[in-house]
Order: sequence, then C-alpha cells, then structure tokens
Amino acid sequence: MADPWQGAMDHAVAVARKAGEIIREALQNDMKIMCKSSSVDLVTKTDQQVEQFIFDSVREKFPTHSFIGEESVAAGQPCTLTDNPTWIIDPVDGTTNFVHGFPFVAVSIGFAVKKELEFGVVYSSLEDKMYTGRRGKGAYCNGLPLQVSDQTDISQCIINSEMGSNRDPEVVDKIFSTMRKILCIPVHGMRGVGTAAVNMCLVASGAVEAYFEIGIHCWDMAAGAVIVTEAGGVVMDVDGGPFDLMSRRVLAANNKTIATRIVKEIDAFPADRDDAPQQEKQ
Ligand code: IPD
Repeated sequence: MADPWQGAMDHAVAVARKAGEIIREALQNDMKIMCKSSSVDLVTKTDQQVEQFIFDSVREKFPTHSFIGEESVAAGQPCTLTDNPTWIIDPVDGTTNFVHGFPFVAVSIGFAVKKELEFGVVYSSLEDKMYTGRRGKGAYCNGLPLQVSDQTDISQCIINSEMGSNRDPEVVDKIFSTMRKILCIPVHGMRGVGTAAVNMCLVASGAVEAYFEIGIHCWDMAAGAVIVTEAGGVVMDVDGGPFDLMSRRVLAANNKTIATRIVKEIDAFPADRDDAPQQEKQ
C-alpha cells in the first residue's frame, strides 16, 4: 500500500533544506538577538523568519494540517497536540549556537497523526547532514541507513546532555549532580552539541550511546524521537516510563540496558508541561 504520508515527508525534507540555506545566509549578516523566558533563552529574527517560511510553505500544500512551532508558541499560540495531522517545528534548534557561530544548528520537523509520530526530519544545516526517520521504515543520514551503537556496557559509552536555559541554582545543582554521577560510573565521556535534535541524531548514528535532558520542548525532540527509534534505539521518560512528547523530558538511548542504567543516576527537577494551560505556566 502506498505510504499516505510520503508526500508530507518529501515536502518536509525540501522545506528543511531550504530553511537551512536561509540559516547559512543569515550567519553572514548582523543578527538581532532577543530574549524569551530569560536572558539566556535567545531568539533571533532568523528563528521567526524560518518558522514563517516553513509554516507558509506547508500551509500552502497541506491547508488542513495543524502546526506547533517554537516561535508561534512563544508568540502565544496554543501548544496542543490533537488527532489532526500536525507539524511540530523548531526552525532553528541551537539558537545559542547560531548566535555564537558554534557549528551545530538544525532545522527540526516532526510530524504526528492521531498523536503518533509518523516521521522526523532533522537538517543539521552547517554540516549539511539531512537525517530522516519514517515510522516502520528506518532512519537515514544523507540517504545512508543509520544504526545505533550495540554497546551494552555503560563504562564504554559517551552520554550526551545539555545544561538548558534554566539558571535557577537548585536546578543547576541537579543538572551537575546528575552529570557528576554519570561521569563517575565512570563513562568514557559526556558531550552536548547545543541542539537536542542533533544530540538525538548522534544517538541514532551510533556516535554516542545516549542523550537525556529535562526542560526541552516538544519541537526539540519530536523529529529526533522517530529517528532514534527507527535506528534501533529507545526513547523514554527520564524515569524509565513511556516517552511523553509534551512532558519536556527525554531519554534517548541505543538500548534498554544503557537507558535503565542512566535512569538510576538522574536527579529530576520539575518542568511545566508544554501543553499546560498558559496561565498555569511559571
Ligand atoms: C534548545 C537546544 C538545546 C537544549 C535546549 C533547547 P533552541 O533549543 O535544543 O540543546 O538544551 O533545552 O531549548 O532554543 O535552540 O531551539
């Protein structure tokens, strides 16, 4: 049977590639940098311009589909996942990298139908790497199949995570205590490239064994979640429970053995759900 979402996925790849061109061009020009939830939660005109470009292009081709976009939500649009086909977009994942010229900046497009993720596209625009994953059909980078690492010994692993943009000292303490415990298992190393989407693609590629973070958003992880699972990995909550796209928590790993070992070391902290009513968000 023909894939009902092939046209949408092809469009996502085309639009992500074009969005990447806009990002590369913008790096040559002066940037207008603004702040969102805090002085370290950055946004630029390029984030807004790229999201508008993706939105317009998808709306023209798929007028009945829904959208959740990082910058639209920041501008007050609801962040609600319904059964309708929904594009979940981070136009510039790694905005802080983009601002500083740190060379990992991705366009992330996830696509869900009836609340189930169908495909994910992550274009790491400065590396020119196009990662794709289609439910049940595998994951690829620039057309070559992706496969997670087969490592089951945590002491032989690299684990990725991020410091995020919450500077509440209690939260920062928990982030560092978790990293300290994981480092001291010991593991081969810890890394983080400043974009959740690329961190997840690195798990899918087998370059690192796992990635976890609390405080990220659905648009950071929707596409990566499909790519990791289609490369043979697992995606779950940081407490080992089922993955919840709106929870702002993710643990992606090459297998359950590594994931459950990491779960034991994570000191969780609260993060408002993405789909919490606006007035309940802190
Ligand atoms: C951020 C990046 C970063 C992660 C943050 C995200 P943004 O996305 O993915 O790696 O640590 O939690 O918010 O803001 O650059 O799109």
